[in-house]
Amino acid sequence: MTVIRVAVPARPERAYEIRLEPGGLDRLGDLCSSAPAHRYAVIADSHVAELYGPRALRALAADGKEAELFTFPAGEWNKSASEWTRLCGELMQEGFGRDSAVVALGGGVTGDLAGFVASTYARGLPVIQVPTTLLSMLDSSVGGKTGIDAGQVKNAVGTFHHPAAVLIDPQCLSTLPRYQRISGLAEAVKAAAIRDREFFAWIEQHAGPLRDGEADALTDLIERSLRIKSEVVAEDPEERGVRAILNFGHTFGHALESMSGFSVLHGEAVAAGMRMEARLGESEGVTAAGVGERLDEILARCGLPEVLEPPLDLDELLDRARTDKKVREGSLRWVLLADVGRVAPGPRGSHTHEIPVARCRGPLEAALRKAFEATDSST
Ligand SMILES: NC(=O)c1ccc[n+]([C@@H]2O[C@H](COP(=O)([O-])OP(=O)(O)OC[C@H]3O[C@@H](n4cnc5c(N)ncnc54)[C@H](O)[C@@H]3O)[C@@H](O)[C@H]2O)c1
Ligand SMILES: [Zn+2]
Repeated sequence: MTVIRVAVPARPERAYEIRLEPGGLDRLGDLCSSAPAHRYAVIADSHVAELYGPRALRALAADGKEAELFTFPAGEWNKSASEWTRLCGELMQEGFGRDSAVVALGGGVTGDLAGFVASTYARGLPVIQVPTTLLSMLDSSVGGKTGIDAGQVKNAVGTFHHPAAVLIDPQCLSTLPRYQRISGLAEAVKAAAIRDREFFAWIEQHAGPLRDGEADALTDLIERSLRIKSEVVAEDPEERGVRAILNFGHTFGHALESMSGFSVLHGEAVAAGMRMEARLGESEGVTAAGVGERLDEILARCGLPEVLEPPLDLDELLDRARTDKKVREGSLRWVLLADVGRVAPGPRGSHTHEIPVARCRGPLEAALRKAFEATDSST
């Protein structure tokens, strides 16, 4: 078992533990002792409820904890206001009060939605994150961002609500479909690209086993990614500064994800976003030449090839990116790499670069054209 502690500097009492333990799901009851509650509301999507819901309830019962399972239909489009309202209504109906806690059992969608329920219901309940996808194990379960999409804008409404504890049982990955695993690898590449060139090289070397779901390689990947994420989050728990670097690949990625109607998975969109944003950085003279090429290669080795389904309209993508929160006055704000493993500092101690939309067009158009050509030749 590996334990990582995440500090929340302004509120030392909110520091929490990430427990990475194969088979750990059966010891969920023990972990929940770090969020003592009268009752636990386990929230899971329809797939995960079926796969792991009964086991989670058994683990809680074995520890003498009262718990009930609440479900919502799987899929990003259910990270919505209507599911949030419905889940809160069910909790109310079942008499869950301020002495309860939430267990978010599932992928990033569940973590965000159940986390949002926890942070708002009864003016806030503790949440224990129990991620079951690769993406949520190595990224979204840590850091306290919760939220829902609205009006096709990703994470339009949300809060910071740090978990009381995080339990990662990598054995849950055995049931995860391959394409979901591959999508999760994109966020690990992101973590390495912004902060750790040695880890980047390690992923380059281990891409085969990672893509094929080799358990030890995945556990190492989760631990190394989490160490990066928890360091960054501890430095800036509410994204007032350095935490913005975790958004590398996301300005473009979020726009692409929502424009596809969520048929492009989050990790796939982030992979495309990193490629685009590396090209933009190179054309701005901020990112070292060749970084885009190296990203293309590592992502392809991970099973995330450079393909996009046309027609994808650049104007619409830029418009979507503009409605995203990273916009200020006709410019788009981007996180740009200086090199592999290092983000380029922005002006006045910031971590982002504001680039007028008109100047973004050329390099993004070229990168999009390349991705479409790759699609054409792969079909
Ligand atoms: N809060 C954050 O900091 C943060 C960071 C990154 C991503 N996110 C969010 O995370 C979401 C994407 O998360 P995701 O990729 O985990 O998607 P997801 O939660 O939709 O899970 C993907 C699919 O896998 C299924 N699944 C989950 N675990 C399984 C298992 N062990 N076996 C079989 N099937 C399983 C789910 O039912 C779902 O159908 C996006 O909404 C994104 O915005 C949040
Ligand atoms: Zn992400």
